[in-house]
Amino acid sequence: MDKIIINGGNPLHGTVEISGMKNAALPIIYACVLVEDKCVIENIPNVRDVELSLNILRKMGATIKTLGKNTVEIDCTHINQGTSDPELVKKIRASYYLLGSELGRFGKAKVAYPGGCDFGGRPIDQHIRGFESLGGTVCTDSGCIEIDADEGVCGAHIYFDIVSVGATINAMLAAALADGNTVIENAAREPHIVDLANFLNTCGARISGAGTDVIRVKGVNSLHGCTYAIIPDMIEAGTYMVAAAATGGCVKLTNVIPKHLESVSAKLEEAGAVVDEFDDSVIVTGKVKVRKANVKTHPYPGFPTDMQPQMAVLLCLADGVSYVSEGVYEKRFRYVEELIKMGASIKVDGRTAVIEGGKPLHGAPVIAVDLRAGVAMAIAGLVAEGTTEISDIHLIERGYDDIVGKFKMLGADIKKVSLPDPEELPLKKVNLA
Ligand code: UD1
Repeated sequence: MDKIIINGGNPLHGTVEISGMKNAALPIIYACVLVEDKCVIENIPNVRDVELSLNILRKMGATIKTLGKNTVEIDCTHINQGTSDPELVKKIRASYYLLGSELGRFGKAKVAYPGGCDFGGRPIDQHIRGFESLGGTVCTDSGCIEIDADEGVCGAHIYFDIVSVGATINAMLAAALADGNTVIENAAREPHIVDLANFLNTCGARISGAGTDVIRVKGVNSLHGCTYAIIPDMIEAGTYMVAAAATGGCVKLTNVIPKHLESVSAKLEEAGAVVDEFDDSVIVTGKVKVRKANVKTHPYPGFPTDMQPQMAVLLCLADGVSYVSEGVYEKRFRYVEELIKMGASIKVDGRTAVIEGGKPLHGAPVIAVDLRAGVAMAIAGLVAEGTTEISDIHLIERGYDDIVGKFKMLGADIKKVSLPDPEELPLKKVNLA
């Protein structure tokens, strides 16, 4: 029953350090299953999805040591294949990376269906195509996904019908120790794909082309341990950039790779903010007047779908009508209902939200319907007049490291409160007299 309470109206000012990227940390954690040795992973973000993933591996027999605030040592030498806890696996999307890792190391895999945010149907047909191409037989009859490569995992030519981050990662994981060479075509190009390839290569894998749409994997016999630092989180960075612009503040973000932020920076500038780029930092200055802009989400290097709800909040403040189109997921506008409670004027037509800007936002009780939607509510709360109360914040904590502390450091009036669960409250005495 934790909530975030925000009294809006303070422009954000100051410096915020961006954490390691959740969506890079997760595949790298599961990639450790391929390594019969110790891997030291640095710049790990302190977020619930990471904690959950480490717990999944720990329960399977991995040895995990915390070496510092953002450093863990993962040793999967004695991990037991096929023993992941279905209840934990169902809580997180990225748990499906265990399929690729188990298949790669043991020639078979067994994992329950993954969970994750609800953006409409989230099929895994492309993952299955990758596994089958590499020699796996996939069976989903038992309520979990089971893969068997009786004759071993063999390098292959994989052509994906659509660009999928998850399917590309799973194919790389399954192919790293395969017999022979694999070519993955129509691969996703996200920075976290490159980070995974760099991690695996540091462990002795031979992967080239990550960051382009053709990735080549030369199978090796084994991988060795390494020390590796995760890249900065471009979505966390983009979120603070939008918050700075929306509140009309000025924020310096450190520990970023400006190249990864280009699509967000370009849209922010179109909307009237100023973005100054440096080697590993950016400064975003918001202006009183926000300009309308149209946004369409695409796979990288397009505008990220994970920045769509945050950008929509900014465009609620603009001087006209903006169109926000979702090009990756079939349903990613569930947050619109919550923004309307705060005074926004938005109509959703299929995969496009039509935002009539300039209506003042006011505080209201709202729900974090998913991870990025939840953080968009926080940005709306920072801008709105009055008090915003966000519930279901465990969804925000899945992917944001110390969000309340970071916004507070930038001058926001924000706090987290823990309220007792009504079901656990002692029953009220009823006077029957
Ligand atoms: C990852 C990210 C998520 C981000 C998304 C797109 C993680 C843990 N999650 O999710 O934050 O929003 O990339 O940048 O890194 N699809 C299929 N068949 C498949 C696989 C995907 O039809 O087998 C579809 C999906 O339904 C979606 C699109 O392809 O419409 C893209 O999905 P994908 O890139 O796979 O996203 P995820 O890896 O699940």
